[in-house]
Amino acid sequence: MKLVVASLAVLAALCLQGEAKTFTRCQLVAELKKHKINQLKDWVCLIEGESSRRTDVIGPTNSDGSRDHGLFQINDRYWCNNGSKPGKACNVTCAELRTDDITKAVSCARTIYKAQGFNAWVAWRNNCKGKPLPDINMC
Ligand SMILES: *[C@@H]1O[C@H](CO)[C@@H](O)[C@H](O)[C@H]1NC(C)=O
Ligand SMILES: *[C@@H]1O[C@H](CO)[C@@H](O)[C@H](O)[C@H]1NC(C)=O
Repeated sequence: MKLVVASLAVLAALCLQGEAKTFTRCQLVAELKKHKINQLKDWVCLIEGESSRRTDVIGPTNSDGSRDHGLFQINDRYWCNNGSKPGKACNVTCAELRTDDITKAVSCARTIYKAQGFNAWVAWRNNCKGKPLPDINMC
């Protein structure tokens, strides 16, 4: 009985993990290159600070009640709709920003970058701005 319960728990955990991915630094670099991202070191630094390269993260609730989603920790107050319909400035659902396919997350991150630059991301301001950036030479 115990064994069955344990196996079910493992199965459930695997299912829940289906859409979760933690990229290695070099996998992330490859993904970002695939999406034609420039300034790779800044983006890698930003993503490492925001989500530790995990696609499915929902951040803790912010002081205004909003939350941050996915690899780029994109805020649901302005950029994604926290529901079943796509919306807000990126015209996406927040769930679409937490999938292993990072196409929509990249596109939304570009929208934010165009509007506010890297300064839109607290982790970039705190960990990357004017600081040594991650070494990606071996990737
Ligand atoms: C977003 O949706 C989740 C679950 O549907 C809910 O727990 C959360 O409070 C919502 N966040 C906001 C800011 O509405
Ligand atoms: C938002 O995206 C949906 C499909 O995901 C599309 O049908 C709709 O026209 C888009 N809305 C705007 C304002 O771009």
